[in-house]
Amino acid sequence: MRVNGVSVDPAATAAALGLGVDDLPGARLLDVLRDGLGLTGAKEGCGMGECGSCTVLVDGRAVCSCLVLQGQVADADVETVEGLADRGGADLQEAFVRRQAVQCGYCIPGVLMSCAALLDRSPDPSDDEIRAALDGNLCRCTGYNRFHDVLHDVARGRCGGAS
Ligand code: FES
Ligand code: FES
Repeated sequence: MRVNGVSVDPAATAAALGLGVDDLPGARLLDVLRDGLGLTGAKEGCGMGECGSCTVLVDGRAVCSCLVLQGQVADADVETVEGLADRGGADLQEAFVRRQAVQCGYCIPGVLMSCAALLDRSPDPSDDEIRAALDGNLCRCTGYNRFHDVLHDVARGRCGGAS
């Protein structure tokens, strides 16, 4: 498994989780990231695939890391919010700030990763595409209209227009 482009050391990661290396494949990806690797951007909300606060990218696809076992992604590229700026997502993060699209912030790492995956496959997404992409991300604070504003800003900016 590579996380944000860096190969993960199974023995060290298992040890950080208090596991033997043979038990690592059965650990939840969310726990591997947070407790094994110290990448605490992905958050645990529901722990059952309902809220999206744990969303990361696996081979470019947004997934709930609370539902994935390490063994299922042992050969995959995993991306977390900690690597977002390095993959070209700084404009997305800046747009969230500029549009004041963050309140408590708990959902935002997951929302950012869902937005990043959407922009990868659809550089100028429609409102329907945005709604579909964020369908699995619950935010109880901000309201989703600002997320739409953010994505339209970023799309315009990347196409060379005003953001
Ligand atoms: S914590 Fe994974 S979907 Fe809620
Ligand atoms: S900003 Fe608080 S849950 Fe989304």
